[in-house]
Amino acid sequence: MNLRFRLNLIVTLVLLIILAISAVQAVNNARKNVRAELESAMVFAMHMLAAELRHINRSEGFGAQDSTPFRLDQLANIRHLLIVFYDLENNLIESNEATPQQGVATAPNWFKELMHTALQDTPNKRLPVYADAAKVGELVVSPEPNSEISEAWAETRMLLLMMILVFLAVNIMVYLVVAHALRPISHITKALSDIESGHLETRLPIFKLPEMASISQKFNTMAATMQDSILHNQHLTQRIIRLQETERKSLAQELHDEIGQHLTAIHVDASVIKQSTDPSASIKSAQAIDDIACHMMSILRSMLKRLRPGGLDELSFVDALQELIDSWQLRHTRTKLSYQIQANLGLNDEAIQLTLYRVLQECLTNISRHSSATDVSINLEESKTTYSLKVADNGKGFEVDEQKSSFGIAGMQQRIESVNGRMDIDSKPGGGVIIMVSIPKQGETA
Ligand SMILES: Nc1ncnc2c1ncn2[C@@H]1O[C@H](COP(=O)(O)OP(=O)(O)OP(=O)(O)O)[C@@H](O)[C@H]1O
Ligand SMILES: [Mg+2]
Repeated sequence: MNLRFRLNLIVTLVLLIILAISAVQAVNNARKNVRAELESAMVFAMHMLAAELRHINRSEGFGAQDSTPFRLDQLANIRHLLIVFYDLENNLIESNEATPQQGVATAPNWFKELMHTALQDTPNKRLPVYADAAKVGELVVSPEPNSEISEAWAETRMLLLMMILVFLAVNIMVYLVVAHALRPISHITKALSDIESGHLETRLPIFKLPEMASISQKFNTMAATMQDSILHNQHLTQRIIRLQETERKSLAQELHDEIGQHLTAIHVDASVIKQSTDPSASIKSAQAIDDIACHMMSILRSMLKRLRPGGLDELSFVDALQELIDSWQLRHTRTKLSYQIQANLGLNDEAIQLTLYRVLQECLTNISRHSSATDVSINLEESKTTYSLKVADNGKGFEVDEQKSSFGIAGMQQRIESVNGRMDIDSKPGGGVIIMVSIPKQGETA
């Protein structure tokens, strides 16, 4: 069941309950009104009839032989009441019945029945009639509610009709408002599907509703960020591939130039030794082989160093960092470098070691290339859950949001993310740079 239908259903149910309560209330009011109206009419009629009787007795006296002594037929247009005169034998002498107004009530049966139940305990009123101190009959006044019921029905029907109209109007309005408010949802769903299928250029229009407008703004910012970072990653990957290619070429070149040449020389010297009968020539060739072997070993070491930071293999991690810092300090004597590395760093994870080493290396390279700093401080420590590295300089700083196409910082970021860490750069032009890295220990999250 979709949201629009559900909202409309809830509103309809609430309105129906209100409508039902109002209808019951309206019918109840009608019952009270009919009863009050008829009771007051009966009281008034009784009062008038009693006065009439007193007047008749005082003046000409009651003419019992008269066939219509009260002229009740002239009270035909008295509404809501049936006035009947019976003689002592209970014969009907006269009544005001069958007036045009008193006809049949036009209300539906259920309504009539409800109204009649309201009058059930309203007793007929009786007024004895005397002539010369002898009872000659009885005037009986009883409620004749048909016309009153018709009136009450007309009013109630109007009220109910108005309530139904309000019900319909509110329902239509709610439907339209909800439909209007939810229209952006189909746009959002489509945009999300587009993004899912790789169309990162998808953007949402700015909707009129403020809440929806903020969703589309946030969505667009998110899509733009995703698009940027994917583009950035593509550039980074391309650059890494280019660098790898260059590195391979240069290694191949070196292998060819150095190792190939030297192996040929060894081969020649070995042949000389094999064929020579002169021991001094053999010794010379052996010496040459020894020299070449030493040279090749140093070439091999320098090649390996390029492939992996040598210090990390040969020294402990802390010593390797210290060597990196010391050699940087040696080359930058004008910069005052202070560092603090927690001595008992229990760091055995090779991936984290390499990440911290490379990050520090890039930070120091950036400081020498871009900062013109006079003070640099490095701090590496470990807490219960994380390793934290902080590198700060007092150089010229930079606008973090504006550097986009660089790879050093992006590379650091990638390395750090690959070990679930995070990096924060705090810098502004003229204000130095602080780079803070935190990497969770294995089994923790940053
Ligand atoms: N310590 C620093 N002081 C001042 N500016 C810096 C510092 N570190 C980085 N920057 C600025 O940030 C930019 C991005 O640095 P990043 O290391 O990503 O790229 P790069 O050093 O220019 O090139 P490479 O991709 O070779 O590292 C630099 O060009 C420089 O303007
Ligand atoms: Mg750099």
